[in-house]
Amino acid sequence: MTATSWKLRCVACGTEYPGLEVRYRCNCGETLDVVHDLEALDGKALLAAFEARLGSRRPLDRSGVWRYRELILGLPDASLVTRLEGNTRTYDSARVARYAGVQRLTLKHEGENPSGSFKDRGMAAGITIAAHLGMTRVACASTGNTSASMASYAALAGMEAFVFIPRGKIAFGKLAQALAYGATTIEIPGDFDAAMALVQDVCRREGIYLLNSINPFRIEGQKAIVFELLQDLNWEVPDWIVLPGGNLGNSSALYKGLAELHAMGIISSLPRIAVIQAEGANPLYTAFTTGAILEPVRNPQTVATAIKIGAPVSWRKSLRGLAATNGVVEQVSDQEIMDAKAQVDRAGIGAEPASCATVAGVRKLSARGVIHPEDRVCGILTGHLLKDPDAVVRYHRGDLEGIESRFGNRPVQAAGDLESVMALLRKM
Ligand code: F0G
Repeated sequence: MTATSWKLRCVACGTEYPGLEVRYRCNCGETLDVVHDLEALDGKALLAAFEARLGSRRPLDRSGVWRYRELILGLPDASLVTRLEGNTRTYDSARVARYAGVQRLTLKHEGENPSGSFKDRGMAAGITIAAHLGMTRVACASTGNTSASMASYAALAGMEAFVFIPRGKIAFGKLAQALAYGATTIEIPGDFDAAMALVQDVCRREGIYLLNSINPFRIEGQKAIVFELLQDLNWEVPDWIVLPGGNLGNSSALYKGLAELHAMGIISSLPRIAVIQAEGANPLYTAFTTGAILEPVRNPQTVATAIKIGAPVSWRKSLRGLAATNGVVEQVSDQEIMDAKAQVDRAGIGAEPASCATVAGVRKLSARGVIHPEDRVCGILTGHLLKDPDAVVRYHRGDLEGIESRFGNRPVQAAGDLESVMALLRKM
């Protein structure tokens, strides 16, 4: 096995392990960080390289993950797996900003990744490491997007994929992707948390490589969201970065990326992080507001199936980032999520329900005076509108259980002849 420029370190007890081994947790049971030798890197030179690569035609430079490769994983270029992930657009919609109660809101749309969610960034790194470890089989539990992404990247790298999903509880677009990309798709009774517990046992017993965000290399790829966001902003640090929280890998990655940019002198301050959870799946919100250890939520419920998670694996890493950035956690109702989604969609941007917890959260935090109207706010939209078409159509038709269709755009019924349609249009 090759020597690496990084090692693995426990987030709780600090025990260190070699950089390349099949390990997801410390012997004490806690999660692990990939620790880079930042002192061996020159921040100024890195910044210049990141900028120069924007104009390059090399696939690795055009990947929104591997463009930042020195801060992701120092491995031979030829071994890096990519679908040219990242390169997602940012949107400054006056309409959405007004709705959210702030003057400047930039939304980075991670749903514009190749498989339609931010998971592709982490998966580029995760599958690359799987190949380095000689793995031919990979697995994950998922609320849908991780499975779609892993299935795609595994197919690309010629690996066999096994996905464990809660039966009947993931959005149709995501299930379709896992099946289409050829993953063995195992539907189990219970929720995501049950699938997560099961897949860890299966991987241990079968020697299959686990690619949930408990895998520290997934986090390394996902850091690239914030690298790219800051590059989009010409390295000017916003006041806030707001994102949804489920299994809490993404908020952990966001902070790790920020801390590394800061340590390298590429940014001079840290933004505050706000993690938004659904009210019915809010274990981090409760732990944060009560100052207690995280207590899992049993039988989590939310229309935002992507974040319907009661026992998030990376809660300790997530709380660390919140503490270091003077961050906050907010919770939003399903009604607030779907109303915010209607606004994001109507602005022409569009995103899946969990993503729109971000905008609902900004609105709530600004109404509470935590985010000020003049603050520069960036929000992460995590998944594509078409991931969950069912939620969209049912909201607009007014038949989403327990949700009022406040901004509904109902389909209009018309007879199929020109005169009836003309009469209808005149009435509108
Ligand atoms: N938004 C979307 C669209 C997601 O798919 C997820 C997580 C999150 C937000 C939350 O991110 O878990 O890092 O806190 N989806 C995982 C999955 C759990 O299986 O696809 P997180």
